[in-house]
Amino acid sequence: MRENTMEISAFDVRAVRAQFPILQRKVNGQNLVYLDNAATVQKPQMVIDALTHYYSHYNANIHRGVHSLAQEATQAYEEARIKIQEHICAAHSHEIIFTMGTTDAINLVMQTWGRSQLSFGDTVLISALEHHSNLVPWHLLKEEKGINIEIIPIHPDGSLDMEAYADLLKKNVKLVCVNHVSNALGSINPIKEMVHMAHEVGAICMIDGAQALPHSKVDVQDLDADFYAFSGHKVYGPTGIGVLYGKEKLLNEMPPWRGGGEMIAAVEYQSSTYNTLPHKFEAGTPNIAGGIALGSAIDFVRSIGVEHIEEHEAQLLESLTQKTAHIDGLKIYGTAEKKAGVFSFLVDGTHPYDVGTLLDQMGVAVRTGHHCAEPLMNHFGIPGTIRASFGCYNTNEEVDVFVHSLERALKMLR
Ligand code: ALA
Repeated sequence: MRENTMEISAFDVRAVRAQFPILQRKVNGQNLVYLDNAATVQKPQMVIDALTHYYSHYNANIHRGVHSLAQEATQAYEEARIKIQEHICAAHSHEIIFTMGTTDAINLVMQTWGRSQLSFGDTVLISALEHHSNLVPWHLLKEEKGINIEIIPIHPDGSLDMEAYADLLKKNVKLVCVNHVSNALGSINPIKEMVHMAHEVGAICMIDGAQALPHSKVDVQDLDADFYAFSGHKVYGPTGIGVLYGKEKLLNEMPPWRGGGEMIAAVEYQSSTYNTLPHKFEAGTPNIAGGIALGSAIDFVRSIGVEHIEEHEAQLLESLTQKTAHIDGLKIYGTAEKKAGVFSFLVDGTHPYDVGTLLDQMGVAVRTGHHCAEPLMNHFGIPGTIRASFGCYNTNEEVDVFVHSLERALKMLR
């Protein structure tokens, strides 16, 4: 992976913040402190500019026209695909399939690989940490085909129980589909080891990287992941665009999912033949502006260096954990040793929605609720948590504002 080579000390959070116009705004009369980055991150000016520049200067459909605008748009879209390929170290740009996001990517794999390769009694192994987007597609396939769904349990700290994983792999597992980083707890799963173990029993492995890619270096070839999915909007790009990486051989073997223009080689009234990768999985006019702007988002991340982002967010998490340690009745959910910048918690005697609403009055944005991980919340016997999650532009001062605002909110509520 070609990484930016800046020294860690060169990370200048003020310079990073200056690129995000939204961070200048006030919310309820207070400076915005945006700590809902696991839900979606804010966008730097260069991503906003990429969107407006496409629409103002070369808006045209791609892969279809000989005219100049069509060629410029096609070139920009395909350049974005190459940037993504390089960023995640895929072997080929045609292994990068543009989707609407991570949910869409998992559904694509379920609809194509899953429906063609899985049958009654086959096991799909997921984890107790999964987002609904990695549960419901498999529920649909279970209803249709009678597959089994097995769950890798977690330890109380939110880390995966790897001994249980090894045992579960003996159960006719055809697919392991797990998140790289838990959106609700922040646990970082040992994906490389998990992929290796899955391959040893002949299973393939799909990784939901929605919460990993924005915060850490991902090398799909080093991980040996068969499929890896992520969302544009969590990596400083637009909503409605995401990526499914798949190994060339698997993607070639899979039937298409959506039918329509661009995914075909030839069409007759009664039958069609299908296009080569990646077009086979990209029917219809895609989110052209979104794809191009996702390429700019990757440029943005690489201009900072993802290792600097990771280090910065780890330091903020450490600071927040220490600065809240004195708060009576505060319980953190997710204390695994390997953890991303997610701080999920409850405070005795308060409801998360009340805390979240009062924080909003003070300009602080957090997410409250089950974080689309209802079974995980049920596992802990709680309705949800309050979740503060970091992005590259958050600062130590914002950590202090958050802690101070939380203390004020708790005083009002208890
Ligand atoms: N998956 C997003 C979250 O964790 C929406 O908030």
